[in-house]
Amino acid sequence: MNEDRRLAVIGLGYVGLPLAISFVEAGLEVEGVDAHPGRVAELSAGRSPIDDIPDERLSGAIAKGFRVVGTDTARLADADVVFVCVPTPIDQAKDPDLGPVLSAAELIRRHLRRGQLVVLQSTTYPGTTTGPFRKVLEQSGFIAGRDFDLAFAPERVNPGDSASAARDVPRLVGATTPAATARAATLLRRINDAVVELSSPDAAELAKILENVFRNVNIALVNQLALLCERMGIDVWEVISAAATKPFGFMRFTPGPGVGGHCIPVDPYYLAWRAREFDFVDRFVELAGDINFAMPRHVVDLVAEALNDRGKALKGAAVGVLGVAFKPDVRDARNAPAAAILAGLAARGATVAYHDPHVPKFRDTEGVARESRAVDRLLADSDVVVVVTPHHAIDWDRVYGTAELVVDTVDSSRGRSTRERQVLRLGAGWSTRQ
Ligand SMILES: NC(=O)c1ccc[n+]([C@@H]2O[C@H](COP(=O)([O-])OP(=O)(O)OC[C@H]3O[C@@H](n4cnc5c(N)ncnc54)[C@H](O)[C@@H]3O)[C@@H](O)[C@H]2O)c1
Repeated sequence: MNEDRRLAVIGLGYVGLPLAISFVEAGLEVEGVDAHPGRVAELSAGRSPIDDIPDERLSGAIAKGFRVVGTDTARLADADVVFVCVPTPIDQAKDPDLGPVLSAAELIRRHLRRGQLVVLQSTTYPGTTTGPFRKVLEQSGFIAGRDFDLAFAPERVNPGDSASAARDVPRLVGATTPAATARAATLLRRINDAVVELSSPDAAELAKILENVFRNVNIALVNQLALLCERMGIDVWEVISAAATKPFGFMRFTPGPGVGGHCIPVDPYYLAWRAREFDFVDRFVELAGDINFAMPRHVVDLVAEALNDRGKALKGAAVGVLGVAFKPDVRDARNAPAAAILAGLAARGATVAYHDPHVPKFRDTEGVARESRAVDRLLADSDVVVVVTPHHAIDWDRVYGTAELVVDTVDSSRGRSTRERQVLRLGAGWSTRQ
């Protein structure tokens, strides 16, 4: 087998774009393919849509020959290896939607040639690579493991955390044959120091889901504890910090307004759906999802409670939401809990506005679009503000110095002097900090 030098990457988002650029920087020839014409246009013009890839790095890759094309002009047959990094969402019923993965497979099928390696990177349930994905590819007449190689290699990038994309973060890979696993691992070692070879694509798929289910379950655990602490009059944040002083056997997770992004709220449902195909109800995974999905509703209740303390109703009140991105310091607002919080507040008669320095426009779960307000105006116009995403770019001294009433869902008031009954904290009740 000759060395793999020409790659194609299908899907140029948070996962595919850094992968493609890393390979370009490692000296390989890369064609990036995306179905969205707007994405192709902005990338071709050197404008990066994601925080972790500065425009200069993208332009540098383009100068080194990185080509960005649409699906209609892709030259996949020229590639030795094709990576698939398209979204894996859930539908209204929270069942997996493999539409993008299968349409990428269909695109590859049309160009597939003997000797190619196809690597699926989208997070998905165990059995996708060797099941529906392989089925579409084999409609070409070629057989995986005999005519072409087929692997699954999950991604660990964590948007907003550049260390997560570093070379020393180990990468997993499992293919349909040991030789294909070794081939994919050799290629991935061009961009990663450590590549862990697994016995099958299924094991690699499940390992990735386990990583995300682990987070979802632990976040649900502390979210439940936060609700209990509110009833017991105990500060959950103090409790978690205390437990975290144990140097072994405990890992710190914190409660909050709910989970967001492309992975944590979505991936567990891929496993739960697949488990049901084996007559197995993964109650643990489903329960964790339900607990986390209920947190935005609880935040709305906290806002009503805070206003009630001032003799005001939520109906007719002006509520300002601070931060709508799904986590601090990123512009990614996919599946952000703020969408359900804004809609929930509006449904109960509040007038709602938000400020987010990273998200100029935002649509709530009812489809209502709003634009970010200037923070000073938001503070001046609101009866109560809700801290949802504690971006560092927000002047928190100003927020706590100005706002009459704050609902703090993320412990952003820690270390600040606050006035008596000014701050209602998720998981802790009224702040007594002076
Ligand atoms: N974002 C993360 O932090 C992260 C981390 C690990 C794994 N993942 C997984 O990686 C996969 C991709 O996620 P992402 O965050 O990069 O998504 P994304 O939405 O940022 O990017 C996906 C890209 O694929 C394009 N696309 C969609 N359908 C296509 C098709 N049929 N053909 C070609 N292009 C298509 C879209 O236009 C978009 O540019 C998902 O399965 C996700 O769960 C994401």
